[in-house]
Amino acid sequence: MDYPNTDNYRITNASEIFSPGLVIFRERLAHNLAEMVRIAGHPERLRPHCKTHKTREIIEMQVKLGITRHKCATIAEAEMLAEVGVKDVLLAYQMVGPNISRLVKLTDNFPGTTFGCLVDHPEAVSQLSRAITSGGNFDRSVDVLVDLNSGMNRTGISIGPSAIELYEMILSAEGLNVGGLHWYDGQHRQSDLRERTVAVNAGWNQLIKFRDQLLLSGLSVPRIVAAGTGSFPILAQHEEPNLELSPGTTTFHDDDMATRFPEMNFLPALGILTRVISRNRANHLTLDVGHKSCAADQPFGHRLAFPELPDARELIHSEEHLVIETAHADQFKLGDHLIAIPRHVCPASAVHQYANVVEDGKLIARWEIIARDRVLTI
Ligand SMILES: Cc1ncc(COP(=O)(O)O)c(C=O)c1O
Repeated sequence: MDYPNTDNYRITNASEIFSPGLVIFRERLAHNLAEMVRIAGHPERLRPHCKTHKTREIIEMQVKLGITRHKCATIAEAEMLAEVGVKDVLLAYQMVGPNISRLVKLTDNFPGTTFGCLVDHPEAVSQLSRAITSGGNFDRSVDVLVDLNSGMNRTGISIGPSAIELYEMILSAEGLNVGGLHWYDGQHRQSDLRERTVAVNAGWNQLIKFRDQLLLSGLSVPRIVAAGTGSFPILAQHEEPNLELSPGTTTFHDDDMATRFPEMNFLPALGILTRVISRNRANHLTLDVGHKSCAADQPFGHRLAFPELPDARELIHSEEHLVIETAHADQFKLGDHLIAIPRHVCPASAVHQYANVVEDGKLIARWEIIARDRVLTI
């Protein structure tokens, strides 16, 4: 995408920031959170995914906006949320292996928080029910949502009779509360808004038909948790009282989403501060933003955008180095810094210990990316 105003990424005391280092532009982050609430129509209609930032301070900003329901993907993220005081945590994952007892431990350690998780298989229901009631403890409980396959084909049971059986199984399982339906439709990434709207709503109609079938059978469906960034503004238009919208990337936004979804009013709010470490050839700069400090899940050549150097072309990306070609290389000295906007922000934040927080062009704080660790205490 184009970055018309490079002043947005200006930092007056950049010498205090080690490179490569994450930088959160606080005003832009605050704008994105407010925009999420605006699109949802009410903070209670949001259940943002914290995997994008894994940071306590951002959860606190969201809670201040009235966002009480949160989504996560790992036990560590769930623990971070509960520890900050979030009362309603959905682990959007099917618990298997030792993570089952870790979830039970979370319910023991944080009795003031309700935890939920997903299932798409009867075995997961039985195992979780056994673990949650182990030792004859019938005081604990977990909310369990049926994960439906939205057509993304990553996880989720297909809509049909087996999904109804799974839903009924939760209702009769000891220690489990039926939590409703989960629908992650992250495959809808069409740039053309009309095309995307048609695809998202086709999925939505299937989902609602299935939900209505459950209701007609006398089953309760307390909530539907749905949406990623691409479908978020489209699903938000449905006046469905029990809908909880769960975008994640919108918190920071990134170059990919900004390019793909030009109609969205989110702002790239996270950058990686990198410095020139070599200028060994004309028209080339070597930077210290190797693929250990950003994310290498994007195709080579498309991992970072440089607002100040729109012509930058990625040539070599190794663990600790990025070589770019640019006609403006001679304007840079060794040690000069640039802000790189990740093409995909979520894995970029996860590889840093902390983020430097910049407000009004100045470093004001450092926030720990606490849930980048796989284990906090549980
Ligand atoms: C289950 C689930 N929900 C919500 C999200 C958030 O989606 P996005 O990052 O597109 O906003 C993700 C992202 O991976 C996800 O896996």
